[in-house]
Amino acid sequence: MAMRPLIDGFGRRVSYVRLSVTDRCDFRCSYCMPLDMAFLPKRDVLTLEELDQIASAFVARGVNRIRLTGGEPLVRKGFLELVQGLSRHIGAGLDELTLTTNGSQLVRFAEGLFAAGVRRVNVSLDTLDPALFRQITRKGDLAPVLEGIAAAKAAGLRVKLNMVALKGLNEDEIPEMMAWAAEQGFDLTFIETMPLGLIEEDRTDRYLPLSEVRRGLEARLTLHDLSERTGGPARYVRVAETGQKLGFITPLTHNFCESCNRVRVTATGTLFMCLGQEDRVELRDLLRTGGPAALDAALDTAMRLKPKGHDFQIERRDADPAVGRHMSMTGG
Ligand code: 5AD
Ligand code: SF4
Repeated sequence: MAMRPLIDGFGRRVSYVRLSVTDRCDFRCSYCMPLDMAFLPKRDVLTLEELDQIASAFVARGVNRIRLTGGEPLVRKGFLELVQGLSRHIGAGLDELTLTTNGSQLVRFAEGLFAAGVRRVNVSLDTLDPALFRQITRKGDLAPVLEGIAAAKAAGLRVKLNMVALKGLNEDEIPEMMAWAAEQGFDLTFIETMPLGLIEEDRTDRYLPLSEVRRGLEARLTLHDLSERTGGPARYVRVAETGQKLGFITPLTHNFCESCNRVRVTATGTLFMCLGQEDRVELRDLLRTGGPAALDAALDTAMRLKPKGHDFQIERRDADPAVGRHMSMTGG
């Protein structure tokens, strides 16, 4: 039977899935979750087998890129076994299996990930200053993360750094991060804070529009826009003086929804059609009662429900988050 691609009501083809394997994390980044974050009971979280079944159902419908996320994916027990299992799809439908990690466990996992077919990792790194790193992550240490990044590089993984731009925290460190990334041969992407889930502070206080960051860089460098898009909110530029490529993820200052090619699955098997909307389909119980056929049918339902776009707004002070769930729930 011919492959039935996943096409939504606006004619967009879904080819990319972000699958959260756990909502847990060993860090508590202040812009992401509260310090006393309540994690889900284990029984609500998808089993490794269910994660595999869901990922495989998407691959059968033409999804060619899967990103495993969290929380922190590397704190999920059996994570490497999951990757090893999913690697059977690489070259057989799947072009790329990647993950987004905070790097804290990468030393232990880098070689195994490469051996299982992973070729790239995104590592979240907001600062190179140990004290500020602790202040932002509240539980994290910089040194093991830097060791993890080095281990990933040594294992042959391409590393992309994600830096959330935070007003008054790491904004002055942007040139230094750029220089370090260039020296190490890592791509670097800046991210704006997104209004996802309640945290202690008002995100407006830390919101640093990337348009401002870009203007700052353009005062001393020439940035050429690249046409390259990944179907997500990232835009890329090349620094003429150094050849360095930089990404800007500006969900709040840019509209990118027309070309959206992605959906997200939470660690409990809720399929969200948009990071910034509530439209969802619950896959876990369908899978538990109806098996793979029910799962496949649910993907068609999901395509009919995929909304046209988000309506994030962060400039409004004291506003509730656009959606109540945290990034660690939906998969950053
Ligand atoms: N806004 C923007 N980025 C966030 N991240 C987590 N929560 C938020 C938020 N509310 C980032 C992490 C990581 C990526 C997966 O998402 O720092 O880089
Ligand atoms: Fe953990 Fe990432 Fe959230 Fe930080 S941003 S608390 S590393 S899930």
